[in-house]
Amino acid sequence: MVRGIDPSRLPTHVALVMDGNGRWAQQRGLKRTDGHAAGEEALFDTVEGALEVGLPWMTVFAFSTENWRRPLDEVRFLMRFNESLLLRRRDELNDLGVRVRFIGRRGGRVPRRVLQHIVDTEALTARNRKLTLTFAFNYGGRAELVDATRAIAEQVAAGRLKPSAIDERTIARNLYAPDMPDPDVLVRTSGEFRISNYLLWELAYSELVFTDVLWPDFRRENLFEAIREYQGRSRRFGAIDTPGAD
Ligand code: IPE
Ligand code: IPE
Ligand code: MG
Repeated sequence: MVRGIDPSRLPTHVALVMDGNGRWAQQRGLKRTDGHAAGEEALFDTVEGALEVGLPWMTVFAFSTENWRRPLDEVRFLMRFNESLLLRRRDELNDLGVRVRFIGRRGGRVPRRVLQHIVDTEALTARNRKLTLTFAFNYGGRAELVDATRAIAEQVAAGRLKPSAIDERTIARNLYAPDMPDPDVLVRTSGEFRISNYLLWELAYSELVFTDVLWPDFRRENLFEAIREYQGRSRRFGAIDTPGAD
């Protein structure tokens, strides 16, 4: 039980944009990469908070398809850092009952070794069900829709699918994680009010929560605060509120 959170109305899925690492470091006279390193503690405290409150799905934006535009040194650091984080902490995540998964393009400039650790970590944790922690890594919402479109086109070309049979479920089935429920809440840190090409299809009806907290300062209490904010919202999905209904 967490104060102020109604356990019967928990979100199923919270998606986070972990933003503000560079500014956090800058404010302290540190290197931008020190900010990324400091984000590790924020992530693990938030994961523990998700487990504490009983949240079943959490997705975090770790590296976007646009982040390749950063200086080579920073890109290299982020590749190595994500790799070492996986290797150092996957057993702990496994022991906590966390299923670790990845969405994003598997290839391109991602080092082969990192891709192998991704596959291994997914296999190691595949049977866990307490929390599914998805890393969006080399992920872009538009790239995901391009990849889904290609897959659908191939099914049509092979005669397995009629164009007239394509509907929203067809697209959802061809995303990187077809079994992932749409996020109920999107949290973005660091006072930026953008989606930045995150989960474009999946966020269609998510509640948006923005906070000025920079990612390295984010802790489980900030996750709880976002959940409280979500529980105070009225989701209508285009309809109107019906008295007595939830
Ligand atoms: C988010 O922090 C982490 C990644 C994008 C990998 P930033 O590195 O974007 O930090 P700011 O936005 O420059 O402060
Ligand atoms: C989004 O943050 C990507 C990640 C957090 C990994 P960015 O810092 O890259 O987004 P922009 O460039 O400010 O839109
Ligand atoms: Mg940023």
